[in-house]
Amino acid sequence: MLSQLTYVSTRNTNCTEAEIEKILGACKKNNPPLAITGILLYSDNKFIQMVEGDSKVILGLYDKIKTDNRHSNCTMISYGPITEKSFPSWHMGARKLTSTEVDFKTDITKEDKDLFDSILNGKEANGSRVLGLLKKFF
Ligand SMILES: Cc1cc2nc3c(=O)[nH]c(=O)nc-3n(C[C@H](O)[C@H](O)[C@H](O)COP(=O)(O)O)c2cc1C
Repeated sequence: MLSQLTYVSTRNTNCTEAEIEKILGACKKNNPPLAITGILLYSDNKFIQMVEGDSKVILGLYDKIKTDNRHSNCTMISYGPITEKSFPSWHMGARKLTSTEVDFKTDITKEDKDLFDSILNGKEANGSRVLGLLKKFF
C-alpha cells in the first residue's frame, strides 16, 4: 500500500553540512531502487522529513533512519495511506531553512505557523495538512 510518513527530529551537533551531503548521497543511492520519494527540510537544529512509497518499505527505512546518530528524538508526526505520490520525481528534495524563514514567507498563514510550531514540537498532525504546509517550502 502506498503511504506517506512524516517525522521531526533534532539535528545533532556532529551533523555538519558535509554530513548532510552524505545523507543526501545515501538518499540518491538508496531511495530510487526502493521507489521512495520525499522531502527533507532542515535547519541548524531540526529535521523534518516526509517519505512516501510502499508502507512496509518506508516503515523499514524509518526504522533505519531512527538509529542514525546524526539526529535524535525522532518523532512521527503523521503516517497513512495515500492515493498518489506528492513528489513522484524526487528521490529526496532537500531545503535548508533559517529559523526566521517561516515568519517571513508571505504565503504562510497564522494557522500554518501554528501547525509548523506543533510539528517542531513533535505533535501528531493530520497528514494532508502537514503535506499542504511542507509543499509551500518547495
Ligand atoms: C535526517 C536523515 C534522513 C535520512 N534519510 C534517508 C533516506 O531517505 N534514505 C536513505 O537511504 N538514508 C537516509 N538517511 C541515512 C541513513 O540513516 C543511513 O545512514 C543510510 O541509509 C546508510 O546508507 P548505506 O546503507 O548505503 O550506507 C537519513 C539520515 C538522516 C539523519
